[in-house]
Amino acid sequence: MDLQPPSFPPGTGDARRPEDKSRRRNAAVILAGGVGARMGLDIPKQFVPIAGRTSLEHTVELFQSCELVDQIIVMMAPGYIPKASELLLEKHGHGKITAILPGGADRSETSRLALDAITDKDANVIFHDAVRPLLDPDIIGACIRALDVYGAVDTAIPSADTIIEVDEDNFIRAVPPRAKLRRGQTPQAFRMPVIANAYERAVQDPDFTATDDCSVVLKYCPDVPIFVVDGDDANIKITQPIDIHIADKLFQLKHKTALPGGSTEGLRSKVVVVFGASSGIGLELVQQLEAEGAVVVGQSRTGSGTFVEDRHCVVQALADAAARYGRVDHVILTAGVLSVGPLAQLTDEQLHHDVDVNLTAAFIVAQESQRYLAESKGSLTLFASSSYTRGRANYTVYSATKAAIVNLTQALADEWSADGIRVNCISPSRTATPMRTRAFGEEDEGSLLPAAAVAGASIQVLASAMTGQVVDVRLPYTDPSNDSHLVPSP
Ligand code: CTP
Repeated sequence: MDLQPPSFPPGTGDARRPEDKSRRRNAAVILAGGVGARMGLDIPKQFVPIAGRTSLEHTVELFQSCELVDQIIVMMAPGYIPKASELLLEKHGHGKITAILPGGADRSETSRLALDAITDKDANVIFHDAVRPLLDPDIIGACIRALDVYGAVDTAIPSADTIIEVDEDNFIRAVPPRAKLRRGQTPQAFRMPVIANAYERAVQDPDFTATDDCSVVLKYCPDVPIFVVDGDDANIKITQPIDIHIADKLFQLKHKTALPGGSTEGLRSKVVVVFGASSGIGLELVQQLEAEGAVVVGQSRTGSGTFVEDRHCVVQALADAAARYGRVDHVILTAGVLSVGPLAQLTDEQLHHDVDVNLTAAFIVAQESQRYLAESKGSLTLFASSSYTRGRANYTVYSATKAAIVNLTQALADEWSADGIRVNCISPSRTATPMRTRAFGEEDEGSLLPAAAVAGASIQVLASAMTGQVVDVRLPYTDPSNDSHLVPSP
């Protein structure tokens, strides 16, 4: 017997089915009824921002965008329904959401309450944890298609670790063979009669406990086969504080493939102000953005007498652009200085100058850009450096200020998400620029990134929907239309 459900190429979904009126309706249930005690925050973990948006927003967006899903019910921690409504309905207007309801005392009760809220008793029900925002949409499709054949479907991945069973005193009781073990994730999908029947029996059992929905079917409807769809290592459940950092990095990885190839056509006619436009990456950006049809206002110390560390200059530059073109859609700050030498030998003047240009300027440009970008729902792009992950001897100020830029990017993306302003930073590795030549003299060209490559990657970021991201651009450089030069931060 062929146990595989009908398959379709990844990413294509099953285009025929959404229009098929005779098919079962697919109701997604987003489980967000928990408080995230293990995270130890004063808000439930589904509201923690990751890559610029809350985990709840990312998760609901996945189901809203899935053409097979007809309806979404969000089960929310009691007391947080207004906050969820504000994000999901007012901010994003997710039209498939039919209800945002209070969850129960534990996950199983939340699932049961969701079932009560689904009026179509012949529907498919797809449960997903709100705190798994990195779900690959193809897995939603795979679960739903598996329901054409099976009444219950789980999502799981192999276990890299050996799983041991222990007793109450922490002694090993058994070591089940790893090859047969899987780590359960969500989605878990069911035909309604199956899961409703399982829960009807479960509530009559005084000893009932469960941490997922498939185990309820397994225990109370043992005759129903539960098919297992391949999950994904990236589909982590945000549980402990460290998971927030891991999820942030995984979002970068995801964007690595989502970014390039994405159209840059949206930049046509956009008003882009580039600070640091006279040379290096800034100059390349001006040229490439003009080639994209953007209206580019280049600002620089040597060209327009604009000192980025001088608030007056920044205010003037932005006001001029807005007065001339009626708006400012994107602001890019590439200006930077790199002084080489032992910190102890840096003069007070050099120290202040380098901090001002590399860091204070970013604060000033951000502050002064906010009102224009809030109006245009635009973006701010800053520049870090690969040295942000590890400080380098003899350019301490540069390394330290670039690390601060990364933190500033994340903080601002969070702070400005309500205004609809995106904030990202580009972190290029050693790039062939006049600034670098001044600092290090002539170097082997093959070891340096062309400034054009960094500008190309920056334009991809500008045209994307991403926010709060640190996009590394590294050698080996190939071609801007190929994504292999975009890699996540280490
Ligand atoms: N969940 C739910 N209703 C509950 C408890 C949990 O809908 N009463 C949801 C959570 O919001 C989460 C998912 O089930 O999306 C997975 O549960 P878990 O990671 O255990 O979440 P919490 O219960 O919030 O976390 P903790 O156990 O640390 O308190």
